[in-house]
Amino acid sequence: KRVLVLNGPNLNLLGTREPEIYGSLTLKDVESACRQTGLALDLTIDFRQSNHEGELITWIHDARQSADAIVINPAAYSHTSVAIHDALKAVGLPVVEVHLSNIHQREPFRHHSFVSSVAYGVICGFGVVSYNLALHALAEKLK
Ligand code: DQA
Repeated sequence: KRVLVLNGPNLNLLGTREPEIYGSLTLKDVESACRQTGLALDLTIDFRQSNHEGELITWIHDARQSADAIVINPAAYSHTSVAIHDALKAVGLPVVEVHLSNIHQREPFRHHSFVSSVAYGVICGFGVVSYNLALHALAEKLK
């Protein structure tokens, strides 16, 4: 099975960005962790990042042809994007929403996510482990 792992804006800066919140791992490290977990679970991983809402939406649309499920860290778009909510709903693939940080422990504007209501599940607060847990959950779901 194939899983599209999507990362939203500013996640390309991981490793240098607010390390007290996000840790010192880079997006490359997150990608390696996903690839390793993918190998162990027999999942093919397509790992991407974009700072552009429209590009993320086009990739979500394309997933209809190229993926069986989506893991998404929508980053700041979680809290703003009705368009990403609509795209995920339209495509209808199982979605797991992930966040590195525990968004509920942070500023009130991070407590609501437009993506959560269209997700099969939501995992936050475990750093890179959030992604690994999401892949494990999807491997079970896709069995
Ligand atoms: C984040 C949390 C969001 O609130 C924030 O805008 C991000 C990263 C996380 O992974 O913890 O960019 O999605």
